Parts: sequence; C-alpha cells; structure tokens
Amino acid sequence: MFRIRHAEFLAPGIKRFVIEAPRIARKQEPGQFLILRIYEQGERIPLTIESSDRAGGTVSIVVQAVGKTTHLLNSLQTGDSIADVVGPLGKPSEVAKFGTVVVVGGGVGTAMAYPTAAALKHAGNLVISIIGARSKELVLLESEMRAVSDTLLVTTDDGSHGQKGLVTDRLRELIEQGTPIDLVLAVGPVVMMRAVAELTRGPQIRTVVSLNPIMIDGTGMCGGCRVLVDGKSQFACVDGPEFDAHRVNFDVLVQRNAMYHEAERRSMEEFARGREREEHKEQEVEESAQSEEPCSVLQGGEQ
Ligand code: FAD
Ligand code: FES
Ligand code: MG
Repeated sequence: MFRIRHAEFLAPGIKRFVIEAPRIARKQEPGQFLILRIYEQGERIPLTIESSDRAGGTVSIVVQAVGKTTHLLNSLQTGDSIADVVGPLGKPSEVAKFGTVVVVGGGVGTAMAYPTAAALKHAGNLVISIIGARSKELVLLESEMRAVSDTLLVTTDDGSHGQKGLVTDRLRELIEQGTPIDLVLAVGPVVMMRAVAELTRGPQIRTVVSLNPIMIDGTGMCGGCRVLVDGKSQFACVDGPEFDAHRVNFDVLVQRNAMYHEAERRSMEEFARGREREEHKEQEVEESAQSEEPCSVLQGGEQ
C-alpha cells in the first residue's frame, strides 16, 4: 500500500497528492509518469509525476477528475492509501540548452509540463511559459510556473484572469512578433496540442507534445497506448510520452481515445448513482439519530 502523506484541492475538481513512494522518488526524471490502481480490482490509470522529494521519499501528482477512477481518486484524503503505484515510466523529457523555449500548458497540462519547464530553466534556457484554463479558479501552479519562467503569460477562455483567449493566441502573437523560438513544449488537451503543432509547422519550430493515449500496463506489452508517429506505430508508454508534434497523427489519437466513451460514460453514471445512494443512506442515519434523541432523553427521564 502507498500512503497519501498529503492531499489538497488546487482548484475545483483538481487535487494534488503527495504519495509515499521512495523508490519512484529516487529515480524520477521530468516528463515521466506513474500508473496507479486505487484498489485491487480497480483500473490502472497513468498520471504524470509533478515533482519528487528524494530525501522525503515522496512523489506528487495533480489529478483532474474526469471520470470514475479520477473522481474516486480525488475523494481520497491525507492518510488514505492507494493499492499500487508503479513507476517511474516513460522516457524522461529531453533537457538541454536549446536557447529560447516556449512551454505551453493547458488546464491540468500545466502541472504535467511544470517539472520539464523547471528542468529547462535550470539547463540555462530562456523560458517563456503560456498557461491557460477555462477560468481563473482553474489556472494551475501560476506562482510555481512564474518561478521557473523568464516570462509567464496567462490566458483564460472567459477573461476572468490574465488575457482573454486561448494559449495558442499568445503563441501565435509571439511567432508573428518574430520572437526567436528554438523549442516549443505543449502539454494539455489533444485539441490544444494539435493547434500548437499547426502553428509551429509553417515556421518549422521544433515542437514536442506529451501524448495522452489510453494506457494499461505501461510497459510496452498490451499495445493499448499505440500512437501513429511518422506513419509508424509507437507505444507512448515506452517510446514516449513525448513526441515530435509535427510527426504525430492526431486523428488516430482522437479516434483511439474515444473508443470507450460509452463504457466510460456508463461507468461514471453508475458511480455517481452509488454515491448518491450512500449520501442518502448517511442522511437517513443522521436524521433517524436526531429523531431518536429526544425520545431517549424522555425515556431516561421516565426511569
Ligand atoms: P474515464 O471516464 O474512464 O475516461 C475519460 C477519458 O480519459 C477517456 O476518454 C480517455 O481519453 C482517458 N482515459 C481513460 N482511461 C485511461 C487510461 N487508462 N489511460 C489513459 N487515459 C485514459 N490526468 C491528470 O489529471 N493528471 C496527470 O498528470 C495526467 N497525466 C497523464 C500522463 C499520461 C502519460 C497519460 C497517458 C494520461 C495522463 N492523464 C493525466 C490522463 C488520465 O490518465 C485520465 O484522465 C484518466 O485515466 C481518466 O480515467 P477516468 O476513469 O477518471 O475517466
Ligand atoms: Fe500497454 Fe503502452 S500501455 S503498451
Ligand atoms: Mg476509467
């Protein structure tokens, strides 16, 4: 069992967990992920390691609740345990002195990009970060990203924080202004990574994306995470998760990620119904305890 040393919500539906996993903490490098299973019969899900504390023997992850397993995970609290945590998995990010690097993080992708942004800054790059979310309360790790960036640009879809618009609007501006860019790293929803790839393809700016296909074993055995890169099948868990954005077939990624949507929707509905039933039961127990109280006092008085 892997104990959760600390759990806290960073934003609505987005929670950070610090998990005791000394062996993973010792080996983790930026860009790598872990696969966890909350309980023995549960499904395995991959999550990027946001940071690790080698001395303290912990790793942290940032989880956005999107379906059954991530909702269940985000209901866990400090002191709870997770059945299995395997990692670190995947190839670490390529970290070198490239020159000027633009790091683009969309939603929870900001937390996934953070360790690599920090490493790129540490390697002597000029780091321009663009982070975005739907609205102010969903903007993640703003101060952490500011600390590892020479320039931080924040965008929100509704304009409630930073500049109104998309992260790709800011990237387009940088390119149009003639900012010399040696590398772009984009991590976030597929639609965002694809848009970044299209923006940088013309000017031939080297661009890396961290792909998020469905993963099961994380060891290159099951084939679940197959992606098409340069017309060839690659396994994101062992050959990635980072790939050259201009060589990725995003259509195949979108198609494969949607394969289980119906089953995922049913499973989430069932989970939500189960939760409602539990809450209802708890409420009934509470109400009956309250209604019994005066009666027992009365009985006590009669004796
Ligand atoms: P479901 O309702 O089952 O699925 C919702 C969607 O999530 C699916 O349509 C599919 O696109 C995706 N998904 C479902 N099952 C899997 C699976 N086994 N593997 C991958 N994707 C799946 N999310 C975070 O919040 N934080 C992270 O740091 C993070 N890092 C990731 C790193 C990698 C390398 C990958 C591949 C994914 C990462 N994800 C991360 C996405 C996360 O794994 C999914 O959101 C999660 O598995 C959804 O599970 P669910 O049961 O809650 O949702
Ligand atoms: Fe099974 Fe990658 S998750 S091959
Ligand atoms: Mg699921």
